[in-house]
Amino acid sequence: QPKVVWDEMRSRSEQKIRMFMTILQLINDRMEAALNAAGAQGAPAIIQLSSKLEFGDYQANGVMAAAKNLRMNPRELAQKVVAALDLKGVANKIEIAGPGFINIHLDSAFLARRNETALKDEHLGVTLPPPLKLMVEYSSPNLAKEMHVGHLRSTIIGDALARVLEFLGHDVVRANHVGDWGTQFGMLTAYLLETGNANNVAMALSDLETFYRNAKVRFDESEDFANRSRDYVVRLQRGDPEVLALWRQFVEVSIAHAQDIYDKLGVGLKREHVRGESAYNADLPMVVSDLQDAALLSDNDGTKVVYLEEFRTQENQAMGVIIQKKDGGYLYTTTDISAIRYRHRMLGLQRVIYVVDARQSQHFQQLFTICRRAGFAPADMALEHIAFGTMMGDDGKPFKTRSGGVVKLADLLDEADERAYTLVSQKNPELPEDKKRHIAHVVGIGAVKYADLSKSRTSDYIFNWESMLSFEGNTAPYLQYAYTRVQSVFRKVDDYDADASILILEPAEKQLAVALAQFEDVVLGVAEAGYLHHLCQYLYQIATLFSRFYEACPILKSEGAVRASRLQLAALTARTLKTGLDLLGIEVLEEM
Ligand code: ARG
Repeated sequence: QPKVVWDEMRSRSEQKIRMFMTILQLINDRMEAALNAAGAQGAPAIIQLSSKLEFGDYQANGVMAAAKNLRMNPRELAQKVVAALDLKGVANKIEIAGPGFINIHLDSAFLARRNETALKDEHLGVTLPPPLKLMVEYSSPNLAKEMHVGHLRSTIIGDALARVLEFLGHDVVRANHVGDWGTQFGMLTAYLLETGNANNVAMALSDLETFYRNAKVRFDESEDFANRSRDYVVRLQRGDPEVLALWRQFVEVSIAHAQDIYDKLGVGLKREHVRGESAYNADLPMVVSDLQDAALLSDNDGTKVVYLEEFRTQENQAMGVIIQKKDGGYLYTTTDISAIRYRHRMLGLQRVIYVVDARQSQHFQQLFTICRRAGFAPADMALEHIAFGTMMGDDGKPFKTRSGGVVKLADLLDEADERAYTLVSQKNPELPEDKKRHIAHVVGIGAVKYADLSKSRTSDYIFNWESMLSFEGNTAPYLQYAYTRVQSVFRKVDDYDADASILILEPAEKQLAVALAQFEDVVLGVAEAGYLHHLCQYLYQIATLFSRFYEACPILKSEGAVRASRLQLAALTARTLKTGLDLLGIEVLEEM
């Protein structure tokens, strides 16, 4: 929704002097000025990309609503707006269509200059916004279990978002808020000691999943074992050095397991980004007393609760968020409150982005509300929950192994490599083995990431190997292949001139040039709202438009300034694809 994105951008850029504007911003500003001049003060322009070639490149849809408000004939208002509209040097044709749409055809020379500027700029012509110190919190698995598919989406989406924000020049802090505290550690400790493995933690945990399962079996079958487990929990919470030392080993071994996954995925999470729930333990009593001082805490028969009027229970009562249990224990929310304080006071963050499953939406809304009210998060520190849906199997149910168990992430990524290897071997049997393996890894991981990122994150999505590994359609292999095809052009020429001018003569050239010039709007939009599928759709469109251009406008058979210009469009296409995929965390290959 361009309009929404635009509003947010406007409010954020109030202090900054906008020397350059994205095309969308520019058209929007000029159109709103024209609306004002035509008597529709403050009416939104509602600029969108045109859906069809004959409607130009952009269209303004705001006139109809504005006319309705003014009780005016929309076409009449549209005529006044167009008369007042100054898009000299930007558009070369402006038309009124239907009930009052305004179609804008961009000027070819304007597009050519923008694309030339982009080619010379390491940020592809994207104007960097004022830099913010921000955090992307993602992955955040609960430890003591191996990572499973449930952790995949947060890890992939969060990493891509961090990359986009970094590209825009922000100071990005990556955070992995792992669940490293809780009663399961008592059970694991009891099992470790019972099996005589206290001096051999790494070995005992080489298969974390089995270890956890066996411990759980013992817990369920033996009253004695369960009691011992509970005793270890108490000792752990009291800070008993022996139990604490074992717990630390559990944590480190699990983090090392997770690190293997991050490395395989090529995700930018490292040990230093881990700050687990346990890091906030010491602050939790302070959270409680500060909430008390802020008069937000109610004592409900020994349970400490914050009641929130704006959240209603089914009985239409103010909803209570438990901060401390009767037995003194703290909750998930208490830790998250402490983390927000830390992020504000110690890190001075201006925007905190939580990439977490949509099922935790209410938790985050309540958390943010409490922190605002208590003054732990001032108004100029943005708090955002970037929610996502569940990964489903072909049967439309949450993704499981054939036997119904959770799918380990390590196995899933191995399978991606294997499947891609089979494909690559079929396509290019003559390639040397190590090359095949490398291509397979880049394609396999790329496919898994892209399948996730290319779907609107808020909906559930169906995980399907065949479609994600297809070389046709909106997939990673298609885009990676498109990139190598563009690059292959440059291997056939020895006269590429990086300073050549761009000339836009044919419709296919214009369409590609318009799309290339939109990179900036797309990336800024993604940074605002975290919808990475907009970037995916965009890259797919670029690849498609390039194919059309390549067919309609021969490069190798052309000559002189036309050939030089077409090579420039090809060069910008390649760089846009490569940069865009890199922002998604997907590698490209020069040949495949
Ligand atoms: N460890 C949690 C889970 O696996 C996710 C943590 C999300 N982040 C947060 N700050 N609460 O469900």
